[in-house]
Amino acid sequence: MRIDIVTALPQLLASPFSDSILQRAQKRGLVEVHLHDLRNFGLGKHRQIDDYQFGGGAGMVMMAEPIFACIEELKAERSYDEIIYMTPDGQLLEQPLANFLSLKKNLCILCGHYKGVDQRVRDHLITREVSIGSYVLSGGELAAAVLCDAIIRLLPGVLNDESSALSDSFQDQLLSPPVYTRPKVFRNWEVPEVLTGGNFPAIEAWREEKALEITKQRRPDLLED
Ligand code: 6GU
Repeated sequence: MRIDIVTALPQLLASPFSDSILQRAQKRGLVEVHLHDLRNFGLGKHRQIDDYQFGGGAGMVMMAEPIFACIEELKAERSYDEIIYMTPDGQLLEQPLANFLSLKKNLCILCGHYKGVDQRVRDHLITREVSIGSYVLSGGELAAAVLCDAIIRLLPGVLNDESSALSDSFQDQLLSPPVYTRPKVFRNWEVPEVLTGGNFPAIEAWREEKALEITKQRRPDLLED
C-alpha cells in the first residue's frame, strides 16, 4: 500500500510515522507513506496557500490552486483508490471504514487547516471525507495520523501476532475482556483464577463472558445490530 499525505504542516506528521508499528510497517516494505508540503505549491514569492473567504468572515481558507497542483502531480504518477479529505463534517471513522480502506493500493489524504479548504477542492478532487469524532481539532494532521494507524495495523505482516488485529475490540462488535500479566498477586490483588489454571476452553468462555458484560455496561449501542 502507498499513502500520500498532503499537508501544510508535514512536521506535525513526521513523528507518528517514525516510531513503533507505523515505522516497522514501512521498514518491512508493507506500506510507503509520503508527506507532501503544500507550501511547495504555494503561490507567489510568499508561497501563499490560504486567503480570506469571499463574503467575509473570520478565518483563512486554503486555496484551491496549490492543492490541485500538488494532488494532480501525484495523480499523474499513479491512480488513487481514494482521495480523502480530513474534516470534522466527514464520515465518522469506525472499524468497518478502516477495514475497507486497508484493502486499497493507493490512498491520498488531504489535511485541512484554518477555516477549511475551498469548496471546489471538495467538489472536484476529493472522493471521500472522513472525521475521527465529534469534536474539533486545529487541523487534519492528527486525524490523518489516527486514520493511517487504524489502516496500517490491519495490513498483513504488520502485527507480529497475526491473530491480534482480528481479536481487537470492535472487530466483532465487542469490547475487549480484561488482561493480566505477572505477577499473579500484586498488592494482594489476584489475577482471576481461571486465567492461570491452563483450562483453555474455560479461559475462552470467561473472556467471552467478560467481553459481553463490559460491552453491555459501556457500549450497549454495539450490541443493538
Ligand atoms: Cl478529520 N479534522 C479536524 N480538524 N477536526 C476533527 C476531525 C478532522 N475529526 C474530528 N475532529
